[in-house]
Parts: sequence; C-alpha cells; structure tokens
Amino acid sequence: MKIQFTVALAALIFFCTYSCKEETFYQGHSIYDSICANCHMEDGSGLKGIIPPLANSDYLKNNQLEVACIIRYGMEGDVVVNGKTYNQPMAGITYVTDTEIANIINYINNAWGNDYGMVDFKNLRIKLKECAAEEERIRLEERAERIRKMNQ
Ligand code: HEC
Repeated sequence: MKIQFTVALAALIFFCTYSCKEETFYQGHSIYDSICANCHMEDGSGLKGIIPPLANSDYLKNNQLEVACIIRYGMEGDVVVNGKTYNQPMAGITYVTDTEIANIINYINNAWGNDYGMVDFKNLRIKLKECAAEEERIRLEERAERIRKMNQ
C-alpha cells in the first residue's frame, strides 16, 4: 500500500514537472516570436554584424541571470558573442513579468539546438531586484547631475 502510494506520487511529480516544463517553453516561444524575433529573427540567428545571435550564443550560455536584466532593462556598449563584437543598443522590454522573463529564457535556452537547461527562478528574481536597484541608482545620479548643471 505504502509503496503503491509512493509510486503514484512519484509519477504525479514526474508528469507535473514535465508538463510545467512544456508550458513555460510554449509561453516563452509565443512571447519570443511577438517581441524578440523582430530583431533576433525567428530562428535566433540575429542580423549579421548588427544584431547578435541567440542560437548557439556563448554569451547567453554564460550569462543566464544577466540575460534576465537585459530583457527588462536593455543593454548598450560592446558585447562579444561567439568571438564577434556587436555595439548597437537594445531597448528594455518593460512590460514583461518576472515569470514571463523566465519563460522566454527557458525557450531560448532550448530552441534551435541550444541545450542550456532551465533558468533558476529564485536566483532570477534576486538578480532582477539587484538590477532594479542599480537602474534606480543610475537614474538618481543622472537627475542629480542635471540639477547640478541647472544650478551652475
Ligand atoms: C529592437 C531590436 C531588439 C529586440 C526587440 C530585442 N533585442 Fe536583444 N539585442 C539587440 C541588440 C542590438 C543587442 C546587442 C546589444 C549591444 O550591442 O550592446 C541585443 C542583445 C541581446 C542579448 C545578448 C547577446 C546575445 O546575443 O546573446 C540577448 C540574450 C538578447 N538580446 C535577448 C533578447 C530577447 C530574449 C528579446 C525579447 C524579449 C530581445 N533580445 C529583444 C536587439 C534587440
């Protein structure tokens, strides 16, 4: 009896994990296609010399949590992807939730032959909070600088 229960529970956990994984992938896929594909292309290949690729991107592979902040706050300056340097600003996508960001990353991590696993949601939220604080610090500094100039 006890064993049957344990087996049933294990099966349930297995199926839930599996279907939850599928769902996060599909939601991420549809958001990707409607927002990110405009620049990074539906197949993640980017635009030669201008938009870096996500398919087979070593940057994506090695900067899993930073990518959450890039999606929300954007990025500018040099970025090296697979040995090539790109420098074209990407605007932040301000209206996606923490969960949607995780789903987008889970999609790009496992699409087009990428095999980068699933992002850790707890660490992703901590990272997003850190980036929010940093963005706020920059915003206040810029405002202080503006006021300093006005008072000169
Ligand atoms: C308007 C065009 C545009 C859109 C839309 C856009 N990006 Fe980007 N993305 C860029 C550019 C340009 C860069 C390079 C930034 C730089 O040079 O500093 C970049 C860089 C990146 C990088 C880091 C480099 C790499 O290739 O691994 C990731 C990851 C990324 N984008 C993911 C996304 C995701 C996910 C979305 C959708 C939520 C998205 N981007 C939407 C243009 C865009």
